[in-house]
Amino acid sequence: MAAQDAQTAREDSIGQDRRAPTATPFRLLQLSDLHLYADPERRLLGQNTRRTLESVLALAQARYWPPDAIVLTGDLVHDELPGAYRFLRERLDGLGIPYHCIPGNHDRLDLLVGQLDPTAASGLRRVAAGAWDLLLLDSVIPGEAGGRLHATVLKGLAEAARGAPARPTLVFLHHHLAPMGSRWIDTMQVANATAALAALALHPALRAVICGHVHQEADQQVAGVRLLATPSTCVQFLPGSADFSLDPRTPGYRWLTLHADGHLETGVERTDAYPEPLTIATQGY
Ligand SMILES: [Fe+2]
Repeated sequence: MAAQDAQTAREDSIGQDRRAPTATPFRLLQLSDLHLYADPERRLLGQNTRRTLESVLALAQARYWPPDAIVLTGDLVHDELPGAYRFLRERLDGLGIPYHCIPGNHDRLDLLVGQLDPTAASGLRRVAAGAWDLLLLDSVIPGEAGGRLHATVLKGLAEAARGAPARPTLVFLHHHLAPMGSRWIDTMQVANATAALAALALHPALRAVICGHVHQEADQQVAGVRLLATPSTCVQFLPGSADFSLDPRTPGYRWLTLHADGHLETGVERTDAYPEPLTIATQGY
C-alpha cells in the first residue's frame, strides 16, 4: 500500500471511530526504539534490530492481536537512511493495522515524514482512539540527544485541556519527563519538563503520559501525572546505572486497553530470549 493510501486508510478508520463510538475497548500497541538500519545485516551492540523487531511482533501477534492501532514512539531508525524508513513502512503496511509514528532523537524527521508517516510533521497531533484521544508530541531538538517541548506544543496541550475535558486522554512522546534515577539517561530527558508537567496536570481527563527513549519499563507518579516508559524492541538499558550499561532483559512492547468508561489497563510483555546472544557492552551507542 502506498504511503498516501495507508494514511487515507488510517484517517478513514479514525473517522469511523468518531462517528460510531461503542462500549468495546480500544486496543493499542506501543512499539519503541526500533533502531533499524537500511542494511538488513547491520547490528546495534551485537543485535540485528530487524530480527529483534520481528521477535517482538511475533510475541504481540501471539498475545495481543489485532490491536486497533499501533503507536511508535521514536528512534525508529538508527542510520538516518531512507531505506530503513521504507523498510519499516512496508513492514507496518503489511500488518494491516493503522499506525502513528513519533520522531526520536535518532530519527531524521524529513525522512520519517517523506518515507513513512506524513502526519509526523506536526509537533502535536490529536488522534481519536474509540472513546479516547491520543495526543502525539514531537519532543526532539534537532541534532541533540535530549528533548524539549516547543512553546507551541505547550500551548496546544493547554488548549486540549480546555477543549475536550470529557474524553479520556493519553499523551505519547519520545523523551522522558522525569528522572529515571540513571545519571547518563537523565541528561537526555525533556529539558523543560516542569513546564510540560504543569501543562499536562491541567488536563482533567489525562490518564497517562507514555514515552520511549529510556529502553526500560517504568511507571511513576510525578506532579499528579502518571508517567509510563516502555522497553525498546532491541537492546535494553540497565535501570539505575550511573553510566551507559546494557540490561540483559529482553525486548518487548506495551499493550494498552482503553475502556470506554475511561479506565486504562496496560502492561509490558517481553520476548523469552534475544534472537542472537547478547553481549553486555560497556560503551555507549
Ligand atoms: Fe532509543
